[in-house]
Amino acid sequence: MFEKYVKMIKDEQLRKKVESFIAKLPVSNKNFKKYRRTDIERTPGGPESFHHGYKGGLKKHTESVTSLAINIAKSLKKSYPNLKIDMDVLIASALLHDIMKVHTFYMTKDGVRHSGVLLDHGIWAAAELYTHEFPEEVIHCVASHGGSEINPPLTIEANILRYADMIDTETDIFMSQSLISELIK
Ligand SMILES: [Fe+2]
Ligand SMILES: [Fe+2]
Repeated sequence: MFEKYVKMIKDEQLRKKVESFIAKLPVSNKNFKKYRRTDIERTPGGPESFHHGYKGGLKKHTESVTSLAINIAKSLKKSYPNLKIDMDVLIASALLHDIMKVHTFYMTKDGVRHSGVLLDHGIWAAAELYTHEFPEEVIHCVASHGGSEINPPLTIEANILRYADMIDTETDIFMSQSLISELIK
């Protein structure tokens, strides 16, 4: 899954960690194993009222955010030649930022359902990445991607991820609203 982007991570150790995490989708805490897991391919990005709230929404959103993040970084590096952006950290974080949604949202014939887990997907991902000894910079990007005031993005990579996530989220909402306005014309 996400091979095209995973292989862009140059650091071999980090690349293997990301590859393994995506393949295994680990849940280290036995108290959390009760939550159902959906394949990434079928996981919605959230409820219908949010963004990417349909089958495959998580995969689409993850690919789009990763592509956006890479392109934002490339553009910023042209404008600010002295700016240092760790592309490995950025790509790894973009691929993993919403990954715990596989344990949070699932499809039924009546639409998207929530597993009932109380932890936010970003916090849960950060906890799991910490357990698997990911670099602090990656954990920070994932933990702060929601942009909360108590845990804001502090690095350039975390800021790029935050805004790439927002642009893609807003675009999906815009697209679904456009479809609705087409239908009611
Ligand atoms: Fe998220
Ligand atoms: Fe996201």
